Amino acid sequence: MMDTVIQIPKEFQGKGLYAVLLDQGIPFSAPCGGNGTCGKCRVRLLEGVLWEKNSGRPLVPDAQGYLLACHAVVSDTGCTVAIPALTGDGLTLSDGVSADGGDRLGVALDIGTTTLAVALVDLDTETVLKSASCLNP
Ligand code: FES
Repeated sequence: MMDTVIQIPKEFQGKGLYAVLLDQGIPFSAPCGGNGTCGKCRVRLLEGVLWEKNSGRPLVPDAQGYLLACHAVVSDTGCTVAIPALTGDGLTLSDGVSADGGDRLGVALDIGTTTLAVALVDLDTETVLKSASCLNP
């Protein structure tokens, strides 16, 4: 998967980058909800200037160009950022599983803030027939 590149126009000046990205429907992981503790909202600043949320000073990205979206405010230049691609294979259980009419099957779901997981279970033998997981966008 490739990074998602998005341009934020200067009309969003003064708004938090994290909120702007969520409002734009950009899928990225932010399990701490924007508190600055998980580090999962990292974006790479490609162009423009972002302000630090509490100080209003220009936010300096790290050596690789990354910064935390939840600490950034859109400046009067607007900006272009790259959001790292979420990794994971998605949730697919359709291949390799067959059941006749007599099988009792169950599905277990784990919907976490960072991960989605699903398992198809044979209830008679109590065995997991197939499972899959991915990051929760
Ligand atoms: S959302 Fe967790 S550090 Fe920004």
